[in-house]
Amino acid sequence: MTLKEAMLVRHCVREYTDRPIPDDIVAKLRNTVDECNRESGLSIQLVVDEPKAFDGIMAHYGKFSGVRNYVVLIGRKSPDLSEKCGYYGEKIVLTAQTLGLNSCWVGLTYSKVKGAYTVGKDEKLVLVIALGYGKTQGLPRRTKFAEQVSASEGEPSDWFVRGVDAALNAPTALNQQKFFFTQRGNGVEARAGAGFFTKVDLGIAKFHFELGAGKENFEWI
Ligand SMILES: Cc1cc2nc3c(=O)[nH]c(=O)nc-3n(C[C@H](O)[C@H](O)[C@H](O)COP(=O)(O)O)c2cc1C
Repeated sequence: MTLKEAMLVRHCVREYTDRPIPDDIVAKLRNTVDECNRESGLSIQLVVDEPKAFDGIMAHYGKFSGVRNYVVLIGRKSPDLSEKCGYYGEKIVLTAQTLGLNSCWVGLTYSKVKGAYTVGKDEKLVLVIALGYGKTQGLPRRTKFAEQVSASEGEPSDWFVRGVDAALNAPTALNQQKFFFTQRGNGVEARAGAGFFTKVDLGIAKFHFELGAGKENFEWI
């Protein structure tokens, strides 16, 4: 399965079985995390077999169960930290899907666990991603229409239409989809609306847009 195929079949999953992630799959995930950290300068960490983060009242309130594995998105404080976490986190989410794992982005409904990962002095933990074998594969959800989240100067290119479609497939906090893409020739401007975790959402949506449009067809402006 390619990342593009993974994007089409992935849905958020909150309930997991107790099946452990085999060592070879953990090793592949660690490789992807290392690659993302090298490229981005983030300090993303994979936590395996740790049940406490999703054992508190917040996680139950959020309807999570059986979560024992998660990715923690951490990086040095900077204006683009949230967007970077979204972009590279979604690369990990879709890679996990190609490896047969389910996932859910989690901004609020988890607990911080001392000793499970390290957050440096000038760093911030932005959010986490639950990972594991889901009890189900999740369900499709409602989505906005392309006209609500995009515009173009002149006739939109095919690659732009494909990019916006892929962005509409991106998970967003509360399924809010508060992003907007504008085509100007070969350039695309992407903006986040106001609200809860919208900069993370924008990073996720931009990763999907690139997969749908093809990075070689345009540049971010
Ligand atoms: C940045 C972000 C934060 C999220 N935070 C939470 C959360 O705290 N609790 C929760 O249950 N789901 C959370 N979600 C999951 C979304 O509700 C879910 O991804 C969205 O409804 C879209 O569904 P999909 O992932 O199946 O496309 C979050 C998603 C994103 C992208």
